[in-house]
Amino acid sequence: MKLKWSDVTPKDVWLNRRNFLAGGAALTATPALALTGRPSALSTDEKLNTLEEITNYNNFYEFGTGKTDPAQNAGALTTDPWSVEIGGLVDRPGSYGVDDLAPPDALEERIYRLRCVEAWSMVIPWIGVPLASVLEKVGVQPGAKYVAFQTLLRPEEMPGQNYPFIRWPYVEGLRLDEAMHPLTILATGLYSDPLPNQNGAPIRLVVPWKYGFKSIKSVVRITLTAEQPPCSWQQLQPSEYGFYANVNPEVSHPRWSQASERRIGAGLFGGRQETLMFNGYADQVASLYAGMDLAKHY
Ligand code: MTE
Repeated sequence: MKLKWSDVTPKDVWLNRRNFLAGGAALTATPALALTGRPSALSTDEKLNTLEEITNYNNFYEFGTGKTDPAQNAGALTTDPWSVEIGGLVDRPGSYGVDDLAPPDALEERIYRLRCVEAWSMVIPWIGVPLASVLEKVGVQPGAKYVAFQTLLRPEEMPGQNYPFIRWPYVEGLRLDEAMHPLTILATGLYSDPLPNQNGAPIRLVVPWKYGFKSIKSVVRITLTAEQPPCSWQQLQPSEYGFYANVNPEVSHPRWSQASERRIGAGLFGGRQETLMFNGYADQVASLYAGMDLAKHY
């Protein structure tokens, strides 16, 4: 079934809200109500970044290394048809369509902070489903301990893949308990619309307490494994980027501090703001790392 966004969100509600936000007013309504009738307790009520900011300042190296390259180049990506191969230690391996994994009637809005390892941040209203719901659908087998993710490999449409500074395709991974955590989602939309290509259409991971590079875009493969899977940035520079990549103001990147961040759109005089432990999600996720040395497992 083709995903019809009008089924999910009355467009005028969103347009009004977008205009309201563009006017610079603080967000007071609970926008999740417009989507499902249920506000998400997992959403932040911070001021949203505008659609313009979210879609014009991106990291998507398959389309170039500049922040505006994805907005310029990702339009060429074919996102329909699309399928996600789910395999490894699962009961029902196979090729799944986007609507199989994120059916329109299951979509939720989650307004999350996104903190890039480069020390900038945004607040983004994602639309998607908990990754746990997908993993339950395919049946995780007892031996599985990790979830590996892979982005599309298609150099004809992804010009950056002709320059092998990353070992393409982009890959990422989570521990199974991180993958099953209610904050972890597969997003298929933002604001009122399906995901723009530069944000990882048609389906991408969002893990809000980790640096943004864990939130892999345009996913075509999900594999349940017993061993810790490779991750692109860790492969490229293991002394700078670890498997966990939890947002942590106390553990500096070897080349810069992670204690503060620049909120995109805050303006020249918006200044920097303090980075929060686990990007502000410590109450929900700190227990996942009890007893771990977070400086060692960065
Ligand atoms: N996924 C792929 N496949 N390729 C990428 O270059 N960049 C990551 C992540 N996912 C990246 C990716 C980084 S570094 C960040 S900060 C976020 O995507 C940015 O997401 P956004 O552009 O939607 O804000």
